[in-house]
Amino acid sequence: MDLTPGSADELLGRIRVQGAGDLPRHVAIIMDGNGRWARERLMPRPFGHRSGMKAVREVVEGAVEAGLEVLSLFAFSQENWQRPRVEITALMSLLEEYIAREVDELRERGVRVCVLGDLERLTPAAASAVDRVVGETEHNDRLRLNLFISYGGRAELVRAAQLLARDVYAGRLAPEDISEAEFQARLYTADCPDPDLLIRTSGEQRISNFLLWQMAYTELFISPVLWPDFGRRELFEAILDYQNRERRFGRVSA
Ligand code: IPE
Ligand code: IPE
Ligand code: MG
Repeated sequence: MDLTPGSADELLGRIRVQGAGDLPRHVAIIMDGNGRWARERLMPRPFGHRSGMKAVREVVEGAVEAGLEVLSLFAFSQENWQRPRVEITALMSLLEEYIAREVDELRERGVRVCVLGDLERLTPAAASAVDRVVGETEHNDRLRLNLFISYGGRAELVRAAQLLARDVYAGRLAPEDISEAEFQARLYTADCPDPDLLIRTSGEQRISNFLLWQMAYTELFISPVLWPDFGRRELFEAILDYQNRERRFGRVSA
């Protein structure tokens, strides 16, 4: 379902005309709908996840073209550990495959990959693939790609609270000095601007425990498209929609 007429390149041109001032610095995406996409084709769920890899590739390409600073992709939630074993295994091996296939191109395109979440739970093979892509891209600065894996927003907040408590207990921080800035500095995303735009695919209208702190003033864009069918064009459509909004942050219009 296309809400905005025009090809991907036409939409990209319009984003550029609109001007850099209106460009979101940080776009976050809840990549949803792989299972339904597979079911529509009478295929098992991992087939949908595999097809979703192409969408990841396209969206990273589009983010570089549009000139975003940060792209955050929610790839696997803490709650997703409760899925059937076979599906989890398929997702972990797809992660390894994605990294093996894309690492050279990500490095060449200037993408710095960061992987955020409770990585202790990853299999050794997945963890070493993660270390590889993070290490091989760490000096890039064209686009920062955050992959959220084994991530939960509440768990991230609890972790930040534990880090603060540790600093208070050790005498490095006074309780009255706990501020929003000190809290934010202990999140996985400490060195990223908050997302300006959140895209959720597959029509679901919920946050599903993603970036709870960081999304206080994020603009939401719900796309009906299932993740494997999402691509550059759909990304550009969401960015154009964002560029025509007025963000007020609690204030009145200018
Ligand atoms: C998103 O697709 C991918 C992950 C959560 C890992 P889903 O697997 O949630 O697909 P649906 O929502 O069942 O269609
Ligand atoms: C959110 O999708 C998590 C990811 C996209 C990784 P889910 O499919 O797990 O979310 P719910 O269960 O529909 O809320
Ligand atoms: Mg889902």
